[in-house]
Amino acid sequence: MKNIEHIGIAVKDLEISNTMFEKLLGTASYKTEEVASEGVKTAFFKMGESKIELLAALNDDSPIAKFLEKRGEGIHHIAFAVGDITSEVQRLKSEGFTVLNEKPKKGADNKLVVFLHPKGTNGVLIELCQEIV
Ligand code: CO
Repeated sequence: MKNIEHIGIAVKDLEISNTMFEKLLGTASYKTEEVASEGVKTAFFKMGESKIELLAALNDDSPIAKFLEKRGEGIHHIAFAVGDITSEVQRLKSEGFTVLNEKPKKGADNKLVVFLHPKGTNGVLIELCQEIV
């Protein structure tokens, strides 16, 4: 595991939150992106080597819609950058963590991503991400 690549925050309205975070951070989001396969639209902010990812639901079936319903707005996941996502997944499995998708999938912001089940990580959804080069 390398640095915290980003923190994902679930929001109800991407435009409203985008505006608020621009004021909060004093910088504009550098990209917005829809990931239809995940049912999310995202906005990214960069500060140094860390980012904030705002996540809003694209539809009612979106995992973000379900999260908002259950827990309301707030921190959704913490993402760690990894150099080799496949070997990191093997290492974490051998340590007993529950991997939600063993095959890395294409996430937002040009990344391959794997998620760990929050029940094994003190209730925090963990994302591993590897830059696609
Ligand atoms: Co993320």
